[in-house]
Amino acid sequence: MTQAAIFDQLWSAITDIGRNPVTGGYRRFAWTEADLRMREWFAGQCQSRGLELIEDRMGNQWAWWGDPDGSATGGIVTGSHLDSVPDGGAFDGPLGVVSGLLAVDRLRSDGFRPSRPIGVVNFVDEEGARFGVSCVGSRVITGVLGPDQALALRDADGVTMAEAMRAAGRQPEQLGPDPEALSRIGSFVELHIEQGRGLINLGRPVAVGNGLWAHGRWRMEIPGQANHAGTTRLNDRRDAVIGCAQLVLATRAAAEAHNSLATVGKINIMPGGVNAIAGLATAWLDARAADEAALSATVDHIEGQLASLGGVMIEESRTPYTEFDGALVTRLARLLDDAPVLSTGAGHDAGILANAGVSAAMIFVRNPTGISHSPAEWAEPEDCLAGVIALASVLADLAKPEP
Ligand code: HGY
Ligand code: MN
Ligand code: MN
Repeated sequence: MTQAAIFDQLWSAITDIGRNPVTGGYRRFAWTEADLRMREWFAGQCQSRGLELIEDRMGNQWAWWGDPDGSATGGIVTGSHLDSVPDGGAFDGPLGVVSGLLAVDRLRSDGFRPSRPIGVVNFVDEEGARFGVSCVGSRVITGVLGPDQALALRDADGVTMAEAMRAAGRQPEQLGPDPEALSRIGSFVELHIEQGRGLINLGRPVAVGNGLWAHGRWRMEIPGQANHAGTTRLNDRRDAVIGCAQLVLATRAAAEAHNSLATVGKINIMPGGVNAIAGLATAWLDARAADEAALSATVDHIEGQLASLGGVMIEESRTPYTEFDGALVTRLARLLDDAPVLSTGAGHDAGILANAGVSAAMIFVRNPTGISHSPAEWAEPEDCLAGVIALASVLADLAKPEP
């Protein structure tokens, strides 16, 4: 069977999991039924390849070709995540996991024998769509996110992460930093669909990722006074939604002023009645910038507007600008026919690992729409295969027997 056919076979097996038949988007939130089905699918694919599947205390799934403790310098690991944002695209995450499995297939059919273990990982809860913090799987094992803080996170229904993990048959009390899992990684290369327009204009199917913008998430609470929509005079109102609207406009102004990106994509209004003036608006800020100073200036600008409304800002997560391993980036670019080298404003587990001292880099696969976190996200089959071929050659180079 050709690799294209195997790719289609793997892809079609997951296409309907968590898919909204109306929008075509995906809802695969961590520890929900859709996520558990994706995890079972991954486990089945690893088993059918004879890969040793290890689930760490956080629930990250590590599939190993070779003894994971068999190399003093650690294994060569690839992979990504299988969870999604609300109504997300098909490729963000799964493309990296599927490509990792196919790259192993390719090396094996070429008769390659790695001198170091090769791993394919599925990091749990990368998007943070359910509990609000991104890259939970990699943040917890690297110690960036404390287990108590993680387990206390609640979803929109008030369910804690601990309760969700327990309902999925896990032991959340075991959560915590996992130096053993980290020590097994000599190099980490994450393949991911490009989430912007970087590759469209370059006419290349793949690029090497050399860094991630500084980014974070902040919860903003705007106060008001709940009251009757039909009896409260305009001058007597303290409408939290009016304040929220001013804040959203200030968010855009701050991004323009500080050459950054700032988004309010989620708002919660209380009490949320059509005929009630809002007593509280909660808005979540996603801000990103190519440097720390621009990010801080953006957030400070918005916080100033929020303070003038009597509101408060709570930082939920922040990831510094991440430089990947320069030597690894250079090696990959050279190996991939002088592939373009791009940074990205998207966050990834590779960035969390890099900030924890792991030698990491990324491979981006062209997305002709330049759209992501949307059903419109797309990658052409031939570019997906170019990504598999690129990843296989990277794994072979990094795991080749020493001369
Ligand atoms: O938000 C991000 O950049 C990533 O998709 N988690
Ligand atoms: Mn994403
Ligand atoms: Mn992703």
